[in-house]
Amino acid sequence: MTYRGLTILMICLFLAGGLYVVYNAAASDPKADPEDIEITMYRGEGCDCCVDWADYLEEKGMTIIDRKVGNLPEVKQQYGVPGAFHSCHTGVVDGYVVEGHVPASEIQRLVAQQPDAIGIAVPGMPAGSPGMEVGHTEPYEVLLFNREKYSVFAEY
Ligand code: CU
Ligand code: CU
Repeated sequence: MTYRGLTILMICLFLAGGLYVVYNAAASDPKADPEDIEITMYRGEGCDCCVDWADYLEEKGMTIIDRKVGNLPEVKQQYGVPGAFHSCHTGVVDGYVVEGHVPASEIQRLVAQQPDAIGIAVPGMPAGSPGMEVGHTEPYEVLLFNREKYSVFAEY
């Protein structure tokens, strides 16, 4: 092989290595093992979709502690969930709030990434979100929120 050929080969290997590193960084968005996740779910009496959400998370391997409360708005206020983001239940995991019908993989990302936030929320009860299987689906966002601001954590 000529020196020139060798140089070109080295450059190709270098570029391929760089691409590999970039690809892996994107693919390895850290996620906690569902088996290590325990969520306390606060909900009102007789909420079926809350139970459906809990069943879905348990199927994924998470542990759910079911807490029926008569004063759910107070719980939401205590944990700092903004009124606009309220849903039917409030989960608490590792000191973070998980408000509403949040998909399992976003809870796994939250626990692994430990962002500076109160928690994540799926406001309202969008059709097609976990526990809200009503025959049709609508697009929805998972929001990462603090008291004063929020950002989009994921889109579905
Ligand atoms: Cu619900
Ligand atoms: Cu619920």
